[in-house]
Amino acid sequence: MTDPGSDEHRDGISRRRLLAVAGAAAGGLVVGGLAGGAVGVASASGDDGSSTGTVAFHGEHQAGIATAAQDRLLFASYDVVTPRRADLEKMLREWTAAAERLTAGQPVGDPATSAALPPTDTGEAEGLHPARLTLTVGFGPTLFELEGTDRFGLAAQRPDALVDLPAFPGDALEADRSGGDLCIQACGDDPQVLFHAVRNLTRIGRGVVRLRWSQEGFGRTSSTTASQATPRNLLGFKDGTDNLRAGTAELDDSVWATADDGSAWMAGGSYMVTRRIRNLIEVWDRTSLAEQERVIGRVRATGAPLGSSSERDPIDLAAKDAAGLPLIDPDAHVAVANQDALGIHILRRGYNFTDGLDPRVGQLDAGLFFIAYQRDPRAQFIPMQQRLAASDLLNEYIKHVGSAVFAVPPGLQPGQWWGQGLMES
Ligand code: HEM
Repeated sequence: MTDPGSDEHRDGISRRRLLAVAGAAAGGLVVGGLAGGAVGVASASGDDGSSTGTVAFHGEHQAGIATAAQDRLLFASYDVVTPRRADLEKMLREWTAAAERLTAGQPVGDPATSAALPPTDTGEAEGLHPARLTLTVGFGPTLFELEGTDRFGLAAQRPDALVDLPAFPGDALEADRSGGDLCIQACGDDPQVLFHAVRNLTRIGRGVVRLRWSQEGFGRTSSTTASQATPRNLLGFKDGTDNLRAGTAELDDSVWATADDGSAWMAGGSYMVTRRIRNLIEVWDRTSLAEQERVIGRVRATGAPLGSSSERDPIDLAAKDAAGLPLIDPDAHVAVANQDALGIHILRRGYNFTDGLDPRVGQLDAGLFFIAYQRDPRAQFIPMQQRLAASDLLNEYIKHVGSAVFAVPPGLQPGQWWGQGLMES
């Protein structure tokens, strides 16, 4: 992976250069086209982000799921405030056109022709690298049905898999950090590029959607491809070792919905669960290393399962020490969440977060913004979280304070728009 701070990364095609290329194309040079006549550089690197700093917007699946996890997140959840379906549809078309340009490193819309008007693009990404920006849209349960009302005539299209998550023991959810009718997951390697993207989408959506909550994240807590090194979470442990990897049949089977799953418009899409999980780091920091490792079930330094020497060694839940005691506590996090034992796999794609001091308790508001993709939360996240909530040793050190679930539709081909499959089904 290209280190966002490296020279190689900075030498990638800059936003300014993309604009220059776009200008040349307008003058007759063909460099690749995007829908709607906008001109961009087709991703030379596919989804590995290695050379150009762009990730293709179009494809079978939305980018930002199996894409090699970028370093930063800006997540935005919205309420739809218009009662009119036509407004919503129009905004989704405009969002798509803007997202095509933003992910190609271009400003939204054409430059304003009059100094008397506000600029069409807010300008803060001018001169910045595209930073492997991906924008992934999702639809929450309340878009389909809000307090028993079918605001947009979409209730019949609600996928069975888009359930309201049940309450889990220990949940301390805050309404203003949970739920949402629509979401945008913006990932990339430059927080200013992410801010620019979400700000402009929010601006385009004014009068149709209102931001409900947002979350910034850093230091990706997952690796989603075989070539990515495993990063560390704020507890200091490697996170993402036993994750699904892009390009494997296991990911395909566990992440992508099919037409047979019940909703034809969701074929090639996925279901996203987000949980804002506070780490009680002050308590964790007073815990011995041995206890920390017992709680997780892995060695902090290497990431190896307890009793093993390498990160990639398989987890053996039956292994015993000389005294006959299990090397990995049956209630350790990796034992309770053990995917092979459960026969359940999810794609984790979360981020560390901190929102500074929580004045209510005088402690850092920091933790893991957990994001998981799966084919059906009823068969994957929900049973896994039910087990974790019941017995995970980690529960003493964490608190789930935010929660949301979204149907993430499939990817688009040029000319299609976000939500088209849903609206036209
Ligand atoms: C703050 C909360 C959490 C922290 C700090 C945390 C941390 C970790 C760590 C350090 C690992 C071991 C390395 C790895 O394989 O990635 C791990 C594994 C895992 N975690 Fe978490 N986790 C958290 C919450 C969750 C939640 C909410 C879920 C799902 C409901 C979950 C599911 C998993 C799974 C499936 C594995 C891999 C288990 C296996 O080896 O098959 N984690 N987590």
